[in-house]
Amino acid sequence: MAIATMTTPLPISFFPFLLLIPAICFTICDANSNLLCIPSEREALLKFKNHLIDPSNRLSSWVEGGDCCKWIGVVCHNLTGHVHQLHLAAPLSPYEQSALGGKINPSLLELNHLSTLDLSNNNFSSMHIPKFFGLLESLTYLNLSRAQFQGAIPHNLGNLSKLQYLDLRGNDLKSESFHWVSGLSSLQYLDLSYANLSKATDWLQVTFKHPSLLELHLSACVLEDDPYLISVNSSKSLAVLDLSWNSLSSVPKSMFSLHGLVSIDLIFNSLDGPIPDYFGNISFVEVLDLHQNSLNSSIPNSLYSLNHLRFLHLSSNKIEQDISEILQSLSRCCLGSLESLNMADNQLSGHLTYQLGQFKNLSYLSLAQNNISGPIPSSIGELSSLKYFDVSENQLNGTFPLCFGQLESLETLDFGYNLLEGVVIETHFSKLMRLTTLKASHNRLRFEPNSSWIPPFQCQIIELGHWHLGSKFPLWLKFQKELSSLDISHVGISDVMPTWFVNLPTQFEYLNLSYNQVTGGISYLNVTNSIDLSSNRFTGPLPRVLSTLRYLFLSNNSFSGPLSELICNPSLKEMVALYIDINLLTGEIPDCWNHWENLAYLNLGNNNLTGKIPPTLGYTNPCMLNLRNNSMFGELPSTLRNSWSLVMLDLSENHFSGSVPAWIGDKLSNLVVLSLRSNNFDGHIPHKICDLQFLQNLDLAHNNISGVIPKCFSNLSEMATKIKINNELSTPYFIDYSFYLKALLVLKGREDEYGSTLGLVTSLDLSANHVRGEIPKEIGTLVGLLSLNFSRNLLTGNIPDNIGNMELMESLDLSMNRLNGEIPPSFSNLNFSNHFNVSYNNLTGHIPTSTQLQSFENLSYVGNHLCGPPLTKNCTSKSIPTDVGNKGSKVNWLYVSIFFGFVLGFWSVVAPLFFSKSWRIAYYRKLDQICGKLYVFWAAMGM
Ligand SMILES: *[C@@H]1O[C@H](CO)[C@@H](O)[C@H](O)[C@H]1NC(C)=O
Ligand SMILES: *[C@@H]1O[C@H](CO)[C@@H](O)[C@H](O)[C@H]1NC(C)=O
Ligand SMILES: *[C@@H]1O[C@H](CO)[C@@H](O)[C@H](O)[C@H]1NC(C)=O
Ligand SMILES: *[C@@H]1O[C@H](CO)[C@@H](O)[C@H](O)[C@H]1NC(C)=O
Ligand SMILES: *[C@@H]1O[C@H](CO)[C@@H](O)[C@H](O)[C@H]1NC(C)=O
Repeated sequence: MAIATMTTPLPISFFPFLLLIPAICFTICDANSNLLCIPSEREALLKFKNHLIDPSNRLSSWVEGGDCCKWIGVVCHNLTGHVHQLHLAAPLSPYEQSALGGKINPSLLELNHLSTLDLSNNNFSSMHIPKFFGLLESLTYLNLSRAQFQGAIPHNLGNLSKLQYLDLRGNDLKSESFHWVSGLSSLQYLDLSYANLSKATDWLQVTFKHPSLLELHLSACVLEDDPYLISVNSSKSLAVLDLSWNSLSSVPKSMFSLHGLVSIDLIFNSLDGPIPDYFGNISFVEVLDLHQNSLNSSIPNSLYSLNHLRFLHLSSNKIEQDISEILQSLSRCCLGSLESLNMADNQLSGHLTYQLGQFKNLSYLSLAQNNISGPIPSSIGELSSLKYFDVSENQLNGTFPLCFGQLESLETLDFGYNLLEGVVIETHFSKLMRLTTLKASHNRLRFEPNSSWIPPFQCQIIELGHWHLGSKFPLWLKFQKELSSLDISHVGISDVMPTWFVNLPTQFEYLNLSYNQVTGGISYLNVTNSIDLSSNRFTGPLPRVLSTLRYLFLSNNSFSGPLSELICNPSLKEMVALYIDINLLTGEIPDCWNHWENLAYLNLGNNNLTGKIPPTLGYTNPCMLNLRNNSMFGELPSTLRNSWSLVMLDLSENHFSGSVPAWIGDKLSNLVVLSLRSNNFDGHIPHKICDLQFLQNLDLAHNNISGVIPKCFSNLSEMATKIKINNELSTPYFIDYSFYLKALLVLKGREDEYGSTLGLVTSLDLSANHVRGEIPKEIGTLVGLLSLNFSRNLLTGNIPDNIGNMELMESLDLSMNRLNGEIPPSFSNLNFSNHFNVSYNNLTGHIPTSTQLQSFENLSYVGNHLCGPPLTKNCTSKSIPTDVGNKGSKVNWLYVSIFFGFVLGFWSVVAPLFFSKSWRIAYYRKLDQICGKLYVFWAAMGM
């Protein structure tokens, strides 16, 4: 996001004087002191005013009989007294409702000498641009930008042959042709941005040939590639070309014949292929901005003939090149001119070279998100103009050069997510007086300054996650009075939370202290947006928080006491994610969730909570609800039916009872993971469960469920599908939420975490219930299953033959039932990589031969009447031994239950956040998109 907002080149405008007029007019309009306005013009102005709506009475000076040359916004000619200029732009203030509206009266036509008309930023709600504007012959300046005009641009504007400046930007306009523009023979500045010009296929022919045009802005005009190829009579004057936010798939070739070009902006188009190699003709270009396209291959040599280049922005493309080559070539053309270089988010490789230090005017450098390796050259200390330096998310190694301390102009320093190592000392920051942003998380650096160190900077953002900051809470933070975002997660602090920190006079937007060993209680945190204190040793009651807070992560601490003060605080309306899992919370979950309208993630798992699920919780309609491993009881409240957004519901390891409600299948139709494991649920498995078309993990193990296995399980289409595209969960509105989800899978006593691959995990676990009857052959159609566990039930009959066709199966447990017959020969097709167990049934005959089946231990087969390897018993004799059954009654239950099947646990959200910055950003974006609850988090953070 930083890339989009911070790298836009400074606007080049050839019209500074024109742009300034509106701003200064309100103060200088009295200059016409000795003039009396012309009565007919005064009447015309009054008539114009009378048709306007002026809610804030801005035109209060416009009164009958007054000297109209002294009216606000009116400028008369200093000799003739004719009204020359009307400056009626509304101030761009969100607080003032001073936009003019209403109708625009043609009485303006009486102002024969009107040369300037500025109605920008007003609200002519959906009115067409009046046709009579085309009759205001004296106009040289017309600004109707952002004034809520709509409809077709009147072509008779093309009659304004004196017009030099036309700004229609930011309205809802369209035009099907550009022919009218060729009539504007004096035009120098044209801005039609945001008009729909998709049908005006002559846009390029007209504008590129225009003899006087200096500056052209056609941003977001739905322009497509030039269908014609013009080459002759190209404009020599056009200097500024802005075609950003269109649908161009190639750079118009005719652009390269505009010899006067100084600034080219083609950002956010669909340009692909290599950057064209025609820059030789347009060698005066100073600004070249092509970011956010799909340009690939390497930078063409002709680009290095632009020896006036000041801004080169190619970020967010697919350029593959060695950075040292690029620096080498740029040092030949633009060593003295280059001020801003942004090549972030490409596929650059290689090392940074000493040449970097030779770009004396460089003030902005971003090479973030590439594959650049090697050390940061110490020549960087010579970049005395450098204000912005971002090399985050590369593979830079070596130390953090001391020379950074010399960069007096530096404001933003970001080298997070690299492989730098070593010790950082105070000198590294010695002259960084202007530093406001220090982002350096995820390096192997150690920084333990003298306890008396006072940093020379006042930062707003400090991110030092994964550094080694020593065991004491960093005292120097005490002096950061402007701090609003702090990440000192995983830095080895093992200290009491200092009171000075809690009482810092600053208000944080974002605070991350996770993965330390901070102890003590916290009564209050002055943080507006996001708090992460997870994995520390905080104790005491839950802290009080601001009502604006959106993300609160307190997982894995020792917070204790009840939830009610936090949950029942009616001002907490903004919360999106609340994680207090793995703490010592006690008491009931209070029934006051009515105001938690934005809640999307709730994790209260692994506490000591009791009571029932409060009815109001059902109305919050989160995407994830995790209450696992508490002491809660009772039936599921029917209000939970309203939580149709639920994708993950984990109520495992409690004492919930009653039957599994059929409405889960009806109402919670987005469920991907449903775990009711280890409770007291009874009754049958409702057939409605089979309607959950997205369900991938169903865990009902360790309950009192009876009845039979529903045949309709074969309708669980996600389990019946083998091919999963891109590991993604195919829910209706979740494209990929694996960023925040970590599932903890316990297989044969081994825990496996499934994060980004969770979309591939499918499991069905009904173990340790009272399910009886035969295993329906329909189970064999669930060919997407990786794990199937029916152990410890009362199943009878044969094992269906087609289970041998479930090729993805990695783990199958049918042990401790009453299954009889033979192990189907098709089982030799199965390719278990984890686990197989059919012990303690009444199976007979030969164990089918395959490399897998014979590789399991005897324990997988004992308690049957089986023979053949891996069992020592040979299959020669036809008689069925009878002594095995007796042994079976002395089952070592411990052994048998080593394999619990799938235990799906929702790991704290926190862990994945630290893997990569882009992950983390994506994570928050994802949080922000879910459930149609749209939030702007990182935008507000300025990230
Ligand atoms: C009138 O304005 C012109 C420019 O518009 C300026 O050059 C001239 O000095 C002004 N004359 C007086 C008397 O202010
Ligand atoms: C940096 O990484 C490269 C391999 O990518 C290695 O050869 C080199 O020794 C490393 N340098 C340092 C200082 O660790
Ligand atoms: C939070 O910090 C801000 C900024 O220092 C301060 O104005 C505000 O009073 C604090 N809020 C509370 C509730 O302490
Ligand atoms: C949970 O509560 C039970 C009884 O209420 C208590 O024995 C147990 O120690 C508590 N566990 C924790 C971790 O506080
Ligand atoms: C085991 O299977 C045999 C037939 O294969 C049957 O006669 C016997 O009753 C079964 N035993 C049990 C305990 O179900």
